[in-house]
Amino acid sequence: MITAPTVLSAVSLILLFNCVVCAEDDPTQGFVQLPFNSSFYYIQKPYDLDVSKRYSFVNGTHKLWVYSTDKPLARSSPTRPRTEVIINGYNYTSGVWQFEGTAYVPTGTSGVCIMQVFGADPNATITTTLMLRVYSGNLTYYTDPVIVPQIYDRWFRVNVIHDMDASYVSAYIDGVLSYEGSGRGGAFHFFKFGVYAQKNDSDYMESRWKDIKIFKKIVKDSHKKHHRHRNKISGFH
Ligand SMILES: *[C@@H]1O[C@H](CO)[C@@H](O)[C@H](O)[C@H]1NC(C)=O
Ligand SMILES: *[C@@H]1O[C@H](CO)[C@@H](O)[C@H](O)[C@H]1NC(C)=O
Ligand SMILES: *[C@@H]1O[C@H](CO)[C@@H](O)[C@H](O)[C@H]1NC(C)=O
Ligand SMILES: *[C@@H]1O[C@H](CO)[C@@H](O)[C@H](O)[C@H]1NC(C)=O
Ligand SMILES: *[C@@H]1O[C@H](CO)[C@@H](O)[C@H](O)[C@H]1NC(C)=O
Ligand SMILES: *[C@@H]1O[C@H](CO)[C@@H](O)[C@H](O)[C@H]1NC(C)=O
Repeated sequence: MITAPTVLSAVSLILLFNCVVCAEDDPTQGFVQLPFNSSFYYIQKPYDLDVSKRYSFVNGTHKLWVYSTDKPLARSSPTRPRTEVIINGYNYTSGVWQFEGTAYVPTGTSGVCIMQVFGADPNATITTTLMLRVYSGNLTYYTDPVIVPQIYDRWFRVNVIHDMDASYVSAYIDGVLSYEGSGRGGAFHFFKFGVYAQKNDSDYMESRWKDIKIFKKIVKDSHKKHHRHRNKISGFH
C-alpha cells in the first residue's frame, strides 16, 4: 500500500536528486575520462612558420599565440590566422563527448575563438557546433551572448559537453552552467583550442591551456535521460 509518507519521501528523494543535478559543480559526473597525450593531437599554425614560433608546451601548459597579419594554416586556405591544438585522436560521429581544460587569456587578446567544437550541417554557413570567443575581455558564444564578462588575466576551467544524439551543447565555466543550446547538425566532430582570429581581431592573440581532459558519457540504454532545458541560457556569475 502506498502511504502519504512514502509518497512524500519519494518526492523529497527526487527533489534531493534534482538539486544535486542542478548544482552540477562536477559536469564530468557520469562520464569516463579517456587517455590523452600528444599522440591525440597536433598543432595547426601559420603555414610558413615553425610550430615553435607560435606554440610552446612548458610545465604542462600549452601556450598558443598568433598575429592578425599571420598566414592561414595552409597556403590554399582562405581562413584567418590561427594557432590551435586539434584533437584529431577523438573524432566522433555519435554519443556524448566532453572537453575539459583550464584556460588563461591575457589582456589585449580580442576578436578570437579560443575553443571550438568542429563540425556542423554541411549546408550551414558555419562549420562549427560551438565556438567560445573573447571580445574585449568578454567570453562569448560566437559573437553573442556574453557568457562570462571580464575573463582576462585569470585561469578559468572550461567544460564543453556535446550530446550528438540529442543535438545539444553546453558550456560550464568554473563548474557553472554558462551556456546551453542546440547542436548544429553534422556527422563528424572534434574539439580544438588555442587562438583562431575572427572579425575585429587584435594585433596579437594568445591563450594558455592546461589540464586538458577528454571524456565520453557512459550511456545505459534503459537509463537514457532527456534534457529538461532546451533553450539557450546565458548566466552571469
Ligand atoms: C599515449 O597514450 C596511448 C594510450 O594510452 C599510448 O598507447 C601511447 O603510447 C601514448 N603516447 C605517448 C606519446 O605517450
Ligand atoms: C617550471 O616548473 C619548475 C618547477 O616548478 C620551475 O622551477 C620553472 O621555473 C618552471 N618554468 C616555467 C617556464 O614556468
Ligand atoms: C580524424 O579526422 C581527420 C580528418 O579531419 C583524420 O585526418 C584523422 O586521421 C582522424 N583521426 C582518427 C583517429 O580517426
Ligand atoms: C543539403 O542541401 C541539399 C540541397 O538542398 C539537400 O539535398 C541535402 O539533403 C541537404 N543536406 C542536409 C544534411 O540537410
Ligand atoms: C562585454 O559585456 C558587457 C556585459 O554584457 C557589455 O556591457 C559590454 O558591451 C561587452 N563588451 C563588448 C566589447 O562586447
Ligand atoms: C567589429 O567592430 C565594428 C566597428 O567597431 C562593430 O560595428 C562590429 O559590431 C564589431 N563586430 C564584432 C563581431 O565584434
